[in-house]
Amino acid sequence: MAGVSLQAISKSFGDNTILKGIDVQAHSGEFMVIVGPSGCGKSTLLRIIAGLETPDGGEVIIDGERKNDTDPSKREVAMVFQNYALYPTMTVYENLAFSQRIRKRSKDEIDKRVMESAEMLKIDELLDRKPKELSGGQRQRVALGRALVRKPKVFLFDEPLSNLDAKLRQEMRLEIKKLHTQLNNTMIYVTHDQTEAMTMADRICLMNNGIIEQIGTPEELYNKPANTFVSTFIGMPPINLIDGEVCTENGSAFFISDGVRINLDKIKNIELFKDLDKHVIMGIRPENLHDNYFAEIKDPENTIKCTVDLVENLGSVALVHSHSGDAHLSATLTTEKIIHPGDSLDLIVDVNSLHFFHQETKERIKL
Ligand SMILES: Nc1ncnc2c1ncn2[C@@H]1O[C@H](COP(=O)(O)OP(=O)(O)OP(=O)(O)O)[C@@H](O)[C@H]1O
Ligand SMILES: [Mg+2]
Repeated sequence: MAGVSLQAISKSFGDNTILKGIDVQAHSGEFMVIVGPSGCGKSTLLRIIAGLETPDGGEVIIDGERKNDTDPSKREVAMVFQNYALYPTMTVYENLAFSQRIRKRSKDEIDKRVMESAEMLKIDELLDRKPKELSGGQRQRVALGRALVRKPKVFLFDEPLSNLDAKLRQEMRLEIKKLHTQLNNTMIYVTHDQTEAMTMADRICLMNNGIIEQIGTPEELYNKPANTFVSTFIGMPPINLIDGEVCTENGSAFFISDGVRINLDKIKNIELFKDLDKHVIMGIRPENLHDNYFAEIKDPENTIKCTVDLVENLGSVALVHSHSGDAHLSATLTTEKIIHPGDSLDLIVDVNSLHFFHQETKERIKL
């Protein structure tokens, strides 16, 4: 099995620097998801691994060997694209067999590989059809199958599910994960969808504007976002961020902003705030806000009195958008109590789930 190591990869198109020194490693057998907003350089990076694009600087190392100058066909990687890129005039069988014919494998070997892959992906009934006779989901399976027959060391996926509807996307997410469990190959999967990143990745590499913001497990990025960008990108619905100050009054520490005042004494390492600039951004995830109405233990020092602006019913829970002074707060709350715009709402904050960032640098304050 083979890991992929990218070292100081840079790439410009004309005057535009797209990748600004990317260092990341996908370990052997790992499912790594590269995620980030549109245009941040994800596809370019993946194409550099595949050899479809040449980096201006840096090293591409696959299975311990430098591959910068190796032809794409000899890198032992297989890429699956968003638009499937199937040959329209060929049958499914021929689409699957094509790369193997080019490699001049024997007819028996090709047949064996095609049948194995087709069965694995449950497309063995479709081998005689042409791509235009397939649904989007079936086409995507054929595209996966084409990568599978090559038995590559590394699979590269570039937004393979973004043309599918939500339900099919969820199904295929599971299928690709299952495939990974079965094959245990290194897989590098590019998406701009944080849900795909969270549900599929062993580790996530979050990119923005040609740099890496953070690499870590989904839990690490969710629980310990390195900066405000990561905190808003990972987690759905997005985190609430509030500008304010940390102050001490009568020996107690408080976070204070227009509309929000929270006692921070229950935070374990609260003394660490003493050495810091007092201007901070506080982050609260919508799932960490609770309706005081249902609270068994009231906590007036950590309750924010809000006015409801909008309620989005999501079925089992509602996403309630509200404000207190200048602070906007969305909370995922149970639908047991019907909430209307204009209602007053007392939201309790669990202080140990709060995140703090430096106002200037936007970097996480490690408590
Ligand atoms: N061949 C090229 N020539 C010039 N500019 C390019 C080329 N390929 C990509 N770019 C530019 O590089 C930037 C990054 O493109 P890239 O396709 O890597 O982004 P991405 O993160 O995959 O975005 P998306 O999520 O929209 O697919 C974009 O601004 C794009 O316009
Ligand atoms: Mg892309």
